[in-house]
Amino acid sequence: MSEDITIDRTLVQRVAAAWPRRSTIRSDMVTIESAAEYEEGRSDYPLRLLPFHDHPGFADVPPEQRELVLTLAWVVYNQRVISAEEHVANPAFALVMRGVFPGTDDFMFRRAIQQALVDEHWHTYMHMMAIERTRELRGLAEIPQFPHSVTYRRLYEERAKLPEAWERDLLSLVWATVAEVSINAYLTLLSGDQEIQPMHSLVTTLHARDEAAHGSLMVEVVKSLYIHMTRRQRRAFVQSLPKALHAFVAQDFSAWRAVLGHAGVPNVDAIVSDCELDRSNGPLVRNFKGIERLVRELDIYDQVAEGVPGLEPAAATAARAELPDGVGEAMLSLGDGFPDLA
Ligand SMILES: [Fe+2]
Ligand SMILES: [Fe+2]
Repeated sequence: MSEDITIDRTLVQRVAAAWPRRSTIRSDMVTIESAAEYEEGRSDYPLRLLPFHDHPGFADVPPEQRELVLTLAWVVYNQRVISAEEHVANPAFALVMRGVFPGTDDFMFRRAIQQALVDEHWHTYMHMMAIERTRELRGLAEIPQFPHSVTYRRLYEERAKLPEAWERDLLSLVWATVAEVSINAYLTLLSGDQEIQPMHSLVTTLHARDEAAHGSLMVEVVKSLYIHMTRRQRRAFVQSLPKALHAFVAQDFSAWRAVLGHAGVPNVDAIVSDCELDRSNGPLVRNFKGIERLVRELDIYDQVAEGVPGLEPAAATAARAELPDGVGEAMLSLGDGFPDLA
């Protein structure tokens, strides 16, 4: 029962107390600002993470064009991280700080959440810099703005259906919860990548370091908010959580079409359509371990998990087994082929 929910106040205090030492805005601002390290011969994005990397239609693409595809894939990644910070994480943290939801009004929580807000703005900055450095490095005249992700579009579609402000606020909180608690699998995978430019893996390493703290903090924040929710609010929370989880694993290859189109690759429709039909690019689960812990602690697992890939142990194991090493975890968090989290 929710009455049994306990808040780990020690964890929140530890997260907040460590921030001055741990936060990458403090420890790594000079590195991010200084001239980026560049390694000849390394790409901007791992080839194996392109869903069409072994498609016959992509095999004949000349090396320069292939590199451009990888560069644009990295740009989309960064654009999506920024959009998730600006449209998902920050609005929800700001609502919490404004006291829209009771439960985290004490200084301990407010301190830690405000720190996370600072971090998120810094992450936007880091990824903005990453795009510009890439543009300079590759000599691109301009950076295309790629389509919004399905995760983001679903949030706005769902918001538009809700007549009351409190319902829309709660929906924002739910989307941010999934984002904050689940991002690290993908960030960590890219951060350890040896194929891509070191400055790119550095950005994801730094972001992942901050998010490790945010993920733990967010679980405690949401538990505390949930305790204080009315029955109606709890019902809305429980009903929208599966929608958010589905939105994070939904498929949408529109960005890949745009990437290949911008790079001038022929037969884009055929390549992308084949990927959409290919079961190994199917509705892949992401790593929802943090969410699983949260919903178990809130005692709402059964209401949330049904039909959600990633929360059903059998489905998750089967999906991973079909994928080669490394790709599994990455694709788990791609959903539409790109990570989309803050
Ligand atoms: Fe975060
Ligand atoms: Fe972030």
